[in-house]
Amino acid sequence: MPFKFIAAIKPGIWRIIRLCAVFIVPLIGVIALLSSLVQHMVTPLLLNWADRDLDERANLIAKVLQEPAATALRLGDTHTLTQQLERVTQDERLLSAAVCDQSQHLFAWSQRYPVSQGCNAASGQGENASDSPANNLHVNLIDVPLSTVDNARMVLVHDRNYAWRRGELTQRYIVWVFSALGTCLAAVLLLTAHWSWRSWVKGVRRILLSDGTTEGTAQASPEIAPLIPDLRRLLRSVNEDRRILKDTTIEWRPETLKLLLREHMFGDEVMVVSNREPYIHELQPDGRIEVIRPASGLVTAVEPVMRACSGTWIAHGSGSADDRVVDARSRIQVPPEGIGDGSSMQGTYTLRRVWLSQEEEQGYYQGFANEGLWPLCHIAHVRPVFRDEDWKQYLAVNTRFADAVVAEARSDNPVVLVQDYHFALLPKLLRERLPRATILTFWHIPWPNVESFGICPWSKQILEGLLGSSIIGFHTRYHCQNFMESVDRFMESRISREDATVTYQAHRTKVRDYPISIHWPPPAPNAAELNDVARKAMRLQHGLPMAHKLGIGVDRLDYTKGIVERMLAVESMLEQQPQWRGRFTFIQVAAPTRSTLDAYQRLEASVRQQAQRINDKFEQLLPGSPPAIILLIEHHDAASVLTYYRSADLAMVTSLHDGMNLVAKEFIAARDADDGVLILSRFAGAAGELREALIVNPYHIGQTAAALTRALDMSLAEQQERMRALRKRLSDFNIYRWAGRMLLDAADERQHIRVQDRIVQVASASTPRRLHMPWQRRA
Ligand code: G6P
Repeated sequence: MPFKFIAAIKPGIWRIIRLCAVFIVPLIGVIALLSSLVQHMVTPLLLNWADRDLDERANLIAKVLQEPAATALRLGDTHTLTQQLERVTQDERLLSAAVCDQSQHLFAWSQRYPVSQGCNAASGQGENASDSPANNLHVNLIDVPLSTVDNARMVLVHDRNYAWRRGELTQRYIVWVFSALGTCLAAVLLLTAHWSWRSWVKGVRRILLSDGTTEGTAQASPEIAPLIPDLRRLLRSVNEDRRILKDTTIEWRPETLKLLLREHMFGDEVMVVSNREPYIHELQPDGRIEVIRPASGLVTAVEPVMRACSGTWIAHGSGSADDRVVDARSRIQVPPEGIGDGSSMQGTYTLRRVWLSQEEEQGYYQGFANEGLWPLCHIAHVRPVFRDEDWKQYLAVNTRFADAVVAEARSDNPVVLVQDYHFALLPKLLRERLPRATILTFWHIPWPNVESFGICPWSKQILEGLLGSSIIGFHTRYHCQNFMESVDRFMESRISREDATVTYQAHRTKVRDYPISIHWPPPAPNAAELNDVARKAMRLQHGLPMAHKLGIGVDRLDYTKGIVERMLAVESMLEQQPQWRGRFTFIQVAAPTRSTLDAYQRLEASVRQQAQRINDKFEQLLPGSPPAIILLIEHHDAASVLTYYRSADLAMVTSLHDGMNLVAKEFIAARDADDGVLILSRFAGAAGELREALIVNPYHIGQTAAALTRALDMSLAEQQERMRALRKRLSDFNIYRWAGRMLLDAADERQHIRVQDRIVQVASASTPRRLHMPWQRRA
């Protein structure tokens, strides 16, 4: 491929070609112009000099001949005068000579004199002859004084050809001299440019290796001097970033994020775009407006970051009373008063709502996002459905959100955090309209393998849209690899696996893994008595004995969550371990979601039916005993979910496939007495981090049932050992660290661009044309 071939040419050769184009070609032009100017000037100058020489020679000859000519004229001695004229015309430049008497008749003349022209020899070519090789005669008419009244005249005809010959020779010399001069100059220039380039690169490298310290930069050459402050700042920030990221003693809090934004982003504007809004205003039958926090992992994760950044969150206004509470520009300050989650999180931010028509919502959200991309990216064996009409709406809605971002942006280079699979096309649309923005896209769900991804009819457009991002983030390295492989398969791009970047149409996108997390420290630390309260309350609420063991599952009612498989595992465990019948209940909290879609309706029916069947089965085996499964298909607020987490002895997070799964982390955060067991699917992104959980394959019902038994039998000491390790990991990697890593990378990117801009400015100020530096990004 031509592109690959060109890329294969050594960069050194390209540099020389570029230098030639920038320096040598103009130099040759200037030299050629100068040489042709000099050539044009030299011939008339030489002819002029030759004419003056010939005049002087003619006067000299005339002086010598004047006396003999006057005598010969007085004596009428033609013969002697002719001989004298023959003698003087022996000179190679004097062609002929003649003497005319007072009546201007030829009196005597040399052999080659044009007699036919009489005393007006070479008329028209006299002293004012034009400068052309055809006019090669120079004629002097000089008076010979005889009397005071009349004079005779001497005619001297010189050959001017020698001057032309001299002119030609000089021109040839000039060409040679200028060519030699040009070659020498070009060589010197090339060497100097090459040498200064090398010393420039060496200087920059020395600064980089010196970590930007003053000693290291002191020896830098003067050309680099304007860059030193920027390079120092860049290095300081990179070192600081490394320190922050490695330093596990740093406590990541909202304040740390605020500090980071101030120090590294210089208070730059931060915007979030997501489909789901963090607060939904719903109109109640009694006319009240109730604020609901949606059951969405995305909202759980991004909300604390936004509180820390105080930016603008742009989302679909989906609540029935959303439009009643916003201002004229569809904005509202959030969190609304009185809404708290018990945490110490502070700060408010702007929520800008985007209104969608029913057709838009149907095509973009229900259709393309949830019937197409969601099953495509999750391997849960539900077939994705792709419709042309849905795609059109998806594109239209992405464009509408791009309009909203542009309208809300206060600067031309905001940091835009684009969230999830609802906005795959948004990064490109934003890049076109805000080319200087830092666009950080986070894909909250898995990225499938390349064969699965290829099912999507618009796979290329989706990749192209995402590659408008400055950085694209996934939960795990595995998802990053899948993404890079998809790009490799479908796009004509350059992929660097070493630094995990994709360059598409001269724009570079970093691909990074940022495992998402939750707020830490937990809302009410070390509240052992609260745990007791929760345990009692929950058992009372469901009519269970106080010693009863509880398992908990908290999910959106989604087919990716493995709820049916989980219930089958409970059934299997109770079958194999009859001692737990009537002593263990599994509570499944399932928040209804996307319930207009067939797949979700079928799932709900199946979950209800399985729960009923299993309960009936064990009711028959042990009549009057507490149910094996309690199924709660309804929304629960954060406080009541927390009570469930606290009251349970174990949690089951057995998704068939999940990007990360924050329920697993929320359960751990709630277990401040360090007890309880987490059973976790190996297909959830969280399994990579939470290795002290009991890891299961949710498709293997027997294995999950065995894990349940093991959890119920686990000693308190082992539970605590595992739980402490899990909690330690969460305290090290909380949501602020997740956001901090992304924002630091964004800050790094912005600083990098600032330095590039400065380098280009310096380079263009010191060279006649703008040079393209190898690391310079062509926007
Ligand atoms: C889960 C996923 C997110 C997704 C959200 C959508 O939380 O992890 O990636 O954005 O579901 O839920 P929704 O109810 O808004 O369709």
